[in-house]
This record gives sequence, structure tokens and C-alpha cells, in this order.
Amino acid sequence: MSSYDVIVIGAGPGGYVAAIRCAQLGLKTAVVEGRETLGGTCLNVGCIPSKALLHASHMLHEAEHNFAEMGLKGKSPSVDWKQMLTYKQSTIDTNTKGIEFLFKKNKIDWLKGWGSVPEAGKVKVGEEVHEAKSIIIASGSEPSALPGVEVDEKVVVTSTGALTLNKVPKKLVVIGAGVIGLELGSVYARLGAEVTVVEFLDAITPGMDPEVQKTFQRTLKKQGMKFVMGAAVQKTEATKTKAKVHYKLRKDDSEHVLDADTVLVATGRKPYVEGLGLEALNVEMTKRGQIAVNGTWQTSVPGVYAIGDVIEGPMLAHKAEDEGMAVAEVIAGKHGHVNYGVIPGVIYTAPEVGSVGETEATLKEAGRAYKVGKFSFMGNARAKANFAGDGFVKILADKDTDRILGAHIIGPAAGELIHEICVAMEFGASAQDLALTCHAHPTYSEAVREAALACGDGPIHM
Ligand code: FAD
Ligand code: NAI
Repeated sequence: MSSYDVIVIGAGPGGYVAAIRCAQLGLKTAVVEGRETLGGTCLNVGCIPSKALLHASHMLHEAEHNFAEMGLKGKSPSVDWKQMLTYKQSTIDTNTKGIEFLFKKNKIDWLKGWGSVPEAGKVKVGEEVHEAKSIIIASGSEPSALPGVEVDEKVVVTSTGALTLNKVPKKLVVIGAGVIGLELGSVYARLGAEVTVVEFLDAITPGMDPEVQKTFQRTLKKQGMKFVMGAAVQKTEATKTKAKVHYKLRKDDSEHVLDADTVLVATGRKPYVEGLGLEALNVEMTKRGQIAVNGTWQTSVPGVYAIGDVIEGPMLAHKAEDEGMAVAEVIAGKHGHVNYGVIPGVIYTAPEVGSVGETEATLKEAGRAYKVGKFSFMGNARAKANFAGDGFVKILADKDTDRILGAHIIGPAAGELIHEICVAMEFGASAQDLALTCHAHPTYSEAVREAALACGDGPIHM
């Protein structure tokens, strides 16, 4: 039996970051991970592989659609899918090995295998039981099941199967117009698949700013993606190579069928707690199956903490990382803090979508007076030169104090631009603070400044 100050269960962005920070703070730390490689969902079957495929397919899209106009003539590249998967895998490998290196550098033990918590202060891995003063559960999430839809990870796939298809399908049906469905749907649309997205609600990406939703859906349609909205999927029927997707339109209950070579089920994810022994340990859970925690990420069992996708909040890698750092600080006797009001959300399509803070809907619901400053990328010189004029920056600021309350961006590099707003919000900045800050020309960032100007006396280039 080995003894540790901290044992972390799960080496995803929550767990590995918590472990590194614990070690940096002088705590003897081990991580239990059952996968062959470190990095969790994010590095192995999530953020990183999907972004590699998004990057490669975006390059193809640029070559096919914009190169000739810029005077770059010649045959457009064709898709070597096997090589694209090799590129994706090497991106995963570099990143997962990077975490292994960081573990060695910080003297963190990797306890290989699946862990459970037989009692507070103890973690069982295989037949071995280890002692720990504090335990952090960071076991992540898994795809939710959809009644009537049987996943085989070959023809009917979750995001995990969609990242390793043996060929680019001719017809892809995506169930769910959320983040996974739209990111992976646009990968395959750019690679030549006919993509139809079937969504239960009347708008894509629930919870997002309605103007962004509309512009986003319009641009994805322009790129060839088809949408069936307000449709409840009833069941799928699959053979070894094909599938049928049966759905009912909510407006009139009419029944329809779509044919597909591949069906991607992307209707959300749920916390992964299997095999941890939480019931026997009497750990309190939320109604939605998440581990319940207090303000310092402690569960109902003293000395047992939980972070990341397995607790409530957005299922995002950076949210898990922030909680990982904060819980380590708490365990080390310091003050750990996460500002849940300033967690950006990014969708890595083209155009990208970035948002943070309040939406008009949440502000209206709270009865808060606000103003809107909006600027279109059509008025941004850099965006126009780069064929990226679709989209806008929208800043929401308090009507009386001018303090920035949120921002919603659709357009080029939105996933980078949003961080300027995050920093401003963390410092309690007003829209005028941003508007008075000199921004280099020509940059996409000028659109952020112009939106801030639009909260006051007005933008210059619109
Ligand atoms: P995870 O990353 O899920 O890691 C949990 C780890 O715990 C796993 O490796 C698992 O094997 C291990 N584990 C579980 N139980 C045990 C046990 N009993 N014993 C030992 N090990 C155990 N988020 C973003 O912010 N940006 C993105 O671009 C993005 N893209 C995504 C794309 C896809 C296709 C998917 C599916 C998700 C994406 N996400 C993205 C979400 C992101 O992956 C998760 O929010 C993030 O991985 C959560 O981190 P975590 O540490 O809580 O859990
Ligand atoms: P999601 O919650 O984003 O979207 C699911 C969609 O499926 C919703 O629009 C919902 O209305 C729809 N839906 C549900 N049931 C349906 C049915 N029966 N028929 C038709 N549509 C139905 O979930 P998704 O896309 O699976 O992603 C899971 C999580 O992964 C997200 O919470 C997200 O945070 C994370 N993620 C983050 C990424 C990023 O940050 N860029 C990328 C990919 C995933």
C-alpha cells in the first residue's frame, strides 16, 4: 500500500491539471487512469482530434473556395483520409505524451487501471489499495443514450466513432445541432459528405444568442449543410453499411425517414461515475446524475472532492482545468476560486463562434437594463481581405454603469477574440475602457473595439 497526500481519479483536463498544481504546491500526488494514454476525453477523443480534423478540412475548404480569387491557381488538394487520420493521431500522441512528460517532471505517479473509493481516504486500483488524505474525482463524462437508437460505433456512431470512420461517408445524418453535431458535421460536409442535421428544437445550439444562432445556421447552410428543425428522432435501423433515421416533426406529428451511410448521435453527454463505488460511499448526487459539491468542490463525504464534467456546469475542458487548479489550492490550504460568470464557450467551425457572460435572454429574465453594441465583420478591413466578412461582434453592457456583462462573436478567430472580453470582464471594465484602448490595424480585434464604440457614441467604420 502506498500513501499519498492526494490521489486524483481521471487524467482528463480536470484531473491532470489538479495533479500538476497539487504537486507544484508540494503535495505527494498520484493519478489513477484506466485509459492507455493520459489526457482524458479531451486529448484522446474530444477537443484535440476534432480540432485537428476541423483544421485539415478548413484548409481544403479554403483551397476549394478562396484560392483562385487570390490568384492561387492549380488543382485543389484531394482528400487522403488515411493520412488525415494519421495526422489526427499524431496530434493526439504529441499531446498525450506531453502530459506524461509533465507527470514525470512534477513527480506524479500514474497508477494505471480503473479506480474506486471503498472508503474515504482509500483508493482501490485493481487489487491494490492506496491511502490518500484527499481524493479528487475527475472521471469526466460519456455520450448520453437516445431511446430507439443503438450505437455500434461503425454505422451509428457517437463522437468517438465519428473521429475514426474508415471512410468519408457519402451521406451523414447528425442527430442534434449542438456543439459536437455542428463541429463534426462541418468537418464531413467540407470533406464532401452530404450532411443533414436533425434537431429537436427550432434553433441550433441551445442557449446561444439568437442573432448568432441565425447567422450561424445561415452560414452553415451556405456551406452545404442541411437542417431539419423541430424534429424528434424516434429510432434508427442499421445494417452493416447503411442506416435509416426515423423522425417525427413536432409541428404536425408527420413521420419521415432519412437514409444515411453514417449516423452521428450527438444529443449531449452525461457524467461518468461507473465503478467508482459512490453509492456504497453514500456520495450525494444531483437530480441530473452529477456528483454534488459545495463551494470548495467537496462532496458530501469529507476529504473527497469532485471537478470537471462529473459535476454541474458547462462540460468544457477549460472549466475542468480551472476547477482542477482551484481544488488543488483548496486542498493545499490556500484560496481556490473559479469565476463561473466568465467562462468562454467556443465553437471551432468556420466562422468560429465565441461567447461569454450574459445573453440578452438572461439579462431580460433578470430584469436588468442593458445596451447592445454591435459591429459587423463586413466593416473590418482584415476580415474583408480574408473572405471572412460574415458575422459580427456583439457586446452587452450595463445601461447605467457601462460595465461589460457579456459578448457574443461569430466570425474569424472568434475563439481568440472572445478572450479580450474575458479579461475586460475579469477586471470589471466598461465598454468605454475597451473603446479607448488602441487596437492595431488591420486586425480582427478592431471589430471588438468597434462593438465597444457602438455601446457609446457609435462605431467609426459602419
Ligand atoms: P475527461 O476528459 O472525460 O477525463 C476523465 C478521465 O477519467 C478519462 O480519461 C477516463 O478514462 C478516466 N476515468 C473515469 N473513471 C475512472 C476510474 N474509475 N478510474 C480511472 N480512470 C477513470 N471542450 C472544450 O472546452 N473545447 C473543445 O473544443 C471540446 N471539444 C470536444 C469535442 C468532443 C468530440 C467531445 C466529446 C468533447 C469536447 N469537449 C470540448 C469537452 C471536453 O472534452 C470535456 O469537457 C473535458 O474533457 C472534461 O474534462 P474532465 O477532466 O472532467 O473529464
Ligand atoms: P449539446 O448539448 O451541445 O447538443 C445536443 C443537441 O441535441 C441539442 O441541440 C438538443 O436539442 C439536441 N437533441 C437532444 N435530443 C434530441 C433528439 N431526440 N432528436 C434531435 N435532437 C435532439 O451536446 P453535444 O453536441 O453532444 O455536446 C456535448 C458536450 O460536449 C457539450 O456540453 C459541450 O460542452 C461539449 N463540447 C464542447 C465543444 C467545444 O467547446 N467546442 C466541442 C464539442 C463538445
